[in-house]
Amino acid sequence: MTTQDPGTTRDPETTQDPGTTRVLVLNGPNLGRLGIREPEVYGSATLDDLAEACRATGRRLGLEIVVRQTDDEAEMIRWVHEAADARTPVVLNPAAFTHYSYALRDALAMRTAPLIEVHLSNPAARESFRHTSVVAGVADGTVAGFGLLSYQLALQAIATLVAARQAGTGAAP
Ligand code: DQA
Repeated sequence: MTTQDPGTTRDPETTQDPGTTRVLVLNGPNLGRLGIREPEVYGSATLDDLAEACRATGRRLGLEIVVRQTDDEAEMIRWVHEAADARTPVVLNPAAFTHYSYALRDALAMRTAPLIEVHLSNPAARESFRHTSVVAGVADGTVAGFGLLSYQLALQAIATLVAARQAGTGAAP
């Protein structure tokens, strides 16, 4: 699923504002069901709410936000390759892929820009199979347990990392 900015006629998927850093906010399986999916765990906000919160944070930080969701591992990997080729920073909620997808982990290892792993819930406080992230080791960091705020904090981290790298004071990639 692709979410567009309803506030403009410009499609951020196909047109990029020169000078503005684009960030892909990628969401894995079952996150398209937010709002009705275990609301006691994931809250009542929908994916559209999440996308709007990210865009609002992006406007504040001067980032162009593109939000996508897929239930398909191959599609997610294609998006990660696209980000690596275009040097696009990524905020990623890998959902259940977090815990077992070595294919996604290997794709992320080729990244060329900042990567933050996010979770709405706190996997460390849940079932033991959620305690392992095969993605965490190739990310700059992880934000988990704060609902939509996890994404907003991750975007803040991306903005800081991008600014540091542009200033030549940050570590690559
Ligand atoms: C999740 C946590 C994962 O363990 C789970 O499989 C998800 C959502 C989160 O955002 O809290 O689908 O990534």
